Amino acid sequence: MFFRKKQKETKDIDLNNLPQHIGVIMDGNGRWAKKRGLPRSAGHSAGAEGLKKIVTEANRLGVKYITVYAFSTENWKRPKEEVDFLMNLLLGYLKDAERSLAGENVRIRAIGSRKELSKEIQEQIIKTENLTKDRSGIVMNIALNYGGREELIHAAKNLCKKAMAGELDPDEITEADIDRELYTAGQPDVDLLIRTSGEQRLSNFMLWQVSYGEMVFVDKAWPDFKPEDLHECIRIFQSRGRRFGGVENA
Ligand code: FPP
Repeated sequence: MFFRKKQKETKDIDLNNLPQHIGVIMDGNGRWAKKRGLPRSAGHSAGAEGLKKIVTEANRLGVKYITVYAFSTENWKRPKEEVDFLMNLLLGYLKDAERSLAGENVRIRAIGSRKELSKEIQEQIIKTENLTKDRSGIVMNIALNYGGREELIHAAKNLCKKAMAGELDPDEITEADIDRELYTAGQPDVDLLIRTSGEQRLSNFMLWQVSYGEMVFVDKAWPDFKPEDLHECIRIFQSRGRRFGGVENA
């Protein structure tokens, strides 16, 4: 029964035309909680729980990469209690993901600048990445202390070092050279970007990788975003004509 229901929900999704890489800006946790008279932290907890279902469903459909914006380089400006809560939640998620997403065959990676994170989180990231690295399912990038501009600065520094070492001619730098220095090196560009809670901006998320991504903005707050909403976003993605700067049927 359950299986048949799932089939019905996704039967109009073309499994041969799935986005390869989905980026998600999980916005609206705070407002979700406030509406229910709960502390903001309750919104983050609900958002983290919902995320597991979304990753599981994306993996079931056959999506290869998903990147979720969990903590930005700007989020340190939030009250200390909220930052501490988010860091603990992330630590717990990384620990738990070794087991709870194991059945889903999910490979977990963290992207972003690690040196500002606590030793405990840095160590847990390495542990979780190593434990899940041989899995064959979806790659889940958790953007943690991540900023698109910081990522580009990081890439620029590495390219300069290579140029100074005589390994690279600055006049010959290509897109592929920059790609190689990003936290997502070796992964395809984001082709579907989802942002919840009605805001319509990138907020420093994957500035390079989303260049040609289809953006879908959903009014629901992140904790209300369900696998059916993911299906709808994929249907919208599949209904769009992607031209990459060219013309259709040229
Ligand atoms: C934005 O909502 C959300 C965040 C800054 C944190 C996102 C984190 C999670 C969903 C949970 C932790 C993630 C993982 C991977 C375990 P907001 O707080 O800005 O909401 P608001 O705009 O309504 O205030």
